[in-house]
Amino acid sequence: MDKIVIQGGKPLHGQVDISGAKNAALPVMAATLLSAGRSRITGLPQVRDVDTMARLVEELGVKVIAFQDGEAVLDAATVNNHVAPYHLVSTMRASCLTLGPLLCRLGRARVSLPGGCAIGARPIDQHIKGLVAMGADIKIENGYIIGQASKLKGAHIYFDMVTVTGTMNIMMAAVLAEGETILENVAKEPEVAFLADTLNQSGARIKGAGTDTIVVQGVAAIDPIKCHIFPDRIETATYMIAAAITQGDIEIRNCVPAHVESISLKLIESGAEVEEGETSIKVRGRHPVLPVSVKTQTYPGFPTDVQAQLMALMCISGGKSVIVENIFENRFMHASELNRMGADIQVEGRTAIVAGVNKLSGAPVMATDLRASASLVLAGLVADGETTISRVYHIDRGYQNMEEKLSKLGASIRRVK
Ligand code: EPU
Repeated sequence: MDKIVIQGGKPLHGQVDISGAKNAALPVMAATLLSAGRSRITGLPQVRDVDTMARLVEELGVKVIAFQDGEAVLDAATVNNHVAPYHLVSTMRASCLTLGPLLCRLGRARVSLPGGCAIGARPIDQHIKGLVAMGADIKIENGYIIGQASKLKGAHIYFDMVTVTGTMNIMMAAVLAEGETILENVAKEPEVAFLADTLNQSGARIKGAGTDTIVVQGVAAIDPIKCHIFPDRIETATYMIAAAITQGDIEIRNCVPAHVESISLKLIESGAEVEEGETSIKVRGRHPVLPVSVKTQTYPGFPTDVQAQLMALMCISGGKSVIVENIFENRFMHASELNRMGADIQVEGRTAIVAGVNKLSGAPVMATDLRASASLVLAGLVADGETTISRVYHIDRGYQNMEEKLSKLGASIRRVK
């Protein structure tokens, strides 16, 4: 298994280009199942999860006409298999985004239950509740969700908690359902709004995406998907923190500053300089790093996907910060790895208290999930000496060319096979 080796202590300088948003790419790839034609998606990030989604839709009968350099041409005329198998779903939970589209397209779906993961139990009861309200017959058998519906019908659904992929799954199902579907208490993440816009360009009738309530008027059919994926806000935030933590100076290009407003403001509170352009952000790190406390929330609140990276920065602040994780119940596994690098973090339930230390020291550490890996890379960039991060396949799931991008910014980082 690959490892990443970092010699810390170098301030990063220069420019970095952000890749397409993984969490926007995966749902639109699943949405290609909704139309019996040839979809074209450009601007895809070249990351493992996107490869996995391509393999999954191919398994479901989609012809993969092209899949390279961030472009996918997917012909879903031939969709004929309703089974999303365990071996793919277990490597990527977003596979369950095929549940709604499969029920619409084939009237049946057999999708492996994802099970728990490193950051929490992550049930998908809200996805199931929505589909049942729309008339699907759903049972769980042998570890699979087995769904059947001759024709889904519009319904009025209230989500008991805000769920990103839950909102997307039911919104996709509603596109081809009979009549009107009203979804209340939905996710407002930019990825949800992008999926709705993309579907609308293909003939869907979705209103309200980006607000708390989405209304979908069902249509008989939609055209194939055509879209260009917008820049990844979590990758953007990670490089912003890379500038702050190394006291460097980075221009992050091809990004959407409005999508990372909560991160910009937190970094300014921590003493960094942040200058927003139209499609770029310049971040300059400053000494000392001031402690800032944060609570993760759904968009536009501070994202759970940047909690680990901000924690790495707080490890070297000049005081005490309190980080509360409100979205996932077990998303602090990076804390004990950061402590192995000399950090002083105490975790109690959903709260982490980080007492800043003068410096971190390089150590062998283990990545536990995608964003935890990013936090260890960030800590390694500022630590004294060598940090070796194992299980870096987590990074490859969601960060395109991370070592190359960081090397270009002046980091001493390499991958060992
Ligand atoms: N939840 C339920 N029941 C459900 C659905 C969700 O209890 O039916 C709970 C979850 O267990 C969690 C909370 O609701 O405690 C929010 O989960 P959500 O469903 O919003 O998460 P998700 O849709 O599975 C997406 C992203 C995650 C990101 C979260 C939160 C994708 C493919 N994944 O997951 O991204 O952390 O939203 O913003 O969009 C990542 O990219 O590293 C990543 C984990």
